[in-house]
Amino acid sequence: MKKELVLEIIQERWSPYSLSSTPVEEYKIKAMLEAAGYAPSCFNEQPWMFVYSTQQNKKVFDDYLGFMDDSNRVWAQNAYAIIISMARTKFSDSGTPNRFAIYDTGMAVSNLLHQALSMDVYVHQMGGFSVEKVKEYFKLNDDVVPLTMIAVGYMGEGLSLAPELLKRDENRRPRKSVNEFAFKESLANPAF
Ligand SMILES: Cc1cc2nc3c(=O)[nH]c(=O)nc-3n(C[C@H](O)[C@H](O)[C@H](O)COP(=O)(O)O)c2cc1C
Repeated sequence: MKKELVLEIIQERWSPYSLSSTPVEEYKIKAMLEAAGYAPSCFNEQPWMFVYSTQQNKKVFDDYLGFMDDSNRVWAQNAYAIIISMARTKFSDSGTPNRFAIYDTGMAVSNLLHQALSMDVYVHQMGGFSVEKVKEYFKLNDDVVPLTMIAVGYMGEGLSLAPELLKRDENRRPRKSVNEFAFKESLANPAF
């Protein structure tokens, strides 16, 4: 059910399995990453990092696919681009741990995916990949944590997808009602 005052772009966003390998213009990918950079962050540390590859460099794109769990690779291989999000978990000035690095990076990714949708580009994030393989491939030091792999593309027709996956794209995934996660004055008291 549509919520009248919630921004349409927020209500309309979803994560399809059917993505197309049709090229997404570079200026759109740039805008998505720039949008990520507008996110707020603790001490304005901007702890996020993104690295991406597209179908145009098949060798590197295939390397990225190789990090994924098989269940994700089957559909993500149809995407045009894959972005890997990472967080630097120490403050750059003091070197002390930044416990908000992952939180902040999540906000940056949220900007990225709404910016994408505003340009008809769809995004599907994945936690199902080998963090170790990513760390090794990019020679990351221990302060940098790979967080999600993000498949990016225009909406596809899903022709190569197994029927179960295609079916999953037919319905939007349900959400809890606001009263299940928002409370007023005490956690015993649903907000609305
Ligand atoms: C951190 C994170 C990890 C996720 N990992 C996977 C994944 O490995 N495979 C997958 O198919 N979807 C993955 N998803 C997508 C979620 O399943 C999806 O966002 C959720 O079911 C809500 O659906 P919606 O995005 O279509 O609204 C992930 C999403 C997030 C934010």
